[in-house]
Amino acid sequence: MFFNSKVVALLLAIVVGLITTAFLSLVSETPIQALITGGLISFAATYIFTFITFEFLVFKEISRIYEVLNKIRKKNFSFIEEEEDRQHRNPLKRINSEIFTYAIGRQREIEQLRKVEAFRREFLADVSHELKTPVFAAQGFVHTLLDGAIDDKKVRIKFLKRAAKSLDNLDALIHDLLTLSQIELGETKMHFEHFNIIEMASEVLDLFENKVERKGLYIGFDQEYNHPIFVYADAEKIYRVLTNLISNANKYTDEGEIILSFNVSSGGQVTVSVKDTGIGIPPEDLGRVFERFFRVEKSRAKGKRGGTGLGLAIVKHIMEAHYSKVSVISTFGKGSTFSFKLPLSKEEDLYSADDDEFGSEE
Ligand SMILES: Nc1ncnc2c1ncn2[C@@H]1O[C@H](COP(=O)(O)OP(=O)(O)OP(=O)(O)O)[C@@H](O)[C@H]1O
Ligand SMILES: [Mg+2]
Repeated sequence: MFFNSKVVALLLAIVVGLITTAFLSLVSETPIQALITGGLISFAATYIFTFITFEFLVFKEISRIYEVLNKIRKKNFSFIEEEEDRQHRNPLKRINSEIFTYAIGRQREIEQLRKVEAFRREFLADVSHELKTPVFAAQGFVHTLLDGAIDDKKVRIKFLKRAAKSLDNLDALIHDLLTLSQIELGETKMHFEHFNIIEMASEVLDLFENKVERKGLYIGFDQEYNHPIFVYADAEKIYRVLTNLISNANKYTDEGEIILSFNVSSGGQVTVSVKDTGIGIPPEDLGRVFERFFRVEKSRAKGKRGGTGLGLAIVKHIMEAHYSKVSVISTFGKGSTFSFKLPLSKEEDLYSADDDEFGSEE
């Protein structure tokens, strides 16, 4: 480059050297050696001073700015970390730091967009795949019927039943998807109320009892709960959470038991846990079971146990809408425990509630 610090320093040094010599020559009787020495000294001093100033304060910083801009253009943000701690002693360094800040913002935006895009693609692929399965099955049965199977009464009923089951699965899937998107969009209104979680859990147990016991499993509470435990939450949604967790416990347990427990803490909360002695979840998948469509060992689980992988995603969203969260501990091959916390109703709220039931229970 023509304009680098050496060239600028040399030009300035020549000019200052000449001016100094010219001034000295105006003074009468200045010896020629003094003129040369004066010129050389001012040349050398100006050169060194200008070179250092430009090299360290101006050109170095400007070339860094160029470097940074170039990297930003090439979307290479690797320099950000090493630059983040730098001190800003002069205005050029401050410009540099502004650029770094801008680049950091851009990098985060780009990463976010990339994630959203990957998520969108994955979601679309998952939804299409999950929709395809029941539609494809129902379509197959209906076409086989149309192609002549309808004339055979035995086959007709069997195929119609299977087609209906596939359509029921499709309906359940669409229902789950709608629930998820409504919660995510904030369209689902929460209806908080005071209710007895023990009573609700007993209802859910009754619902599953036959199904679970037919598999040879035991389902029940960890102890007798003689007193109600009132919580303040959306009853319908918590019913759904319990149903999803117990349904999973049943689906992923082949022998043993499913136990529900309620631990009241001094902080005014109750921890509800659903514990099973089932197949468990491998440690590497524990963090992912709450993602939509995630299933442990997709292919095997699908064939044997059938789910779409939306149940726990719905549970997670419902608990977030309650400013709480669902957590899991699991030992692969031994069993899993899913728990969530709910706030206990305050006594004064229960007494002031219109519902007679609350007054008489306490
Ligand atoms: N109690 C459990 N024991 C072992 N694995 C579990 C348990 N609960 C969930 N999982 C694993 O987590 C995955 C996600 O669970 P989730 O309830 O979201 O989906 P699903 O049960 O497969 O389908 P869906 O609930 O939508 O019908 C399951 O596929 C299963 O692999
Ligand atoms: Mg499930």
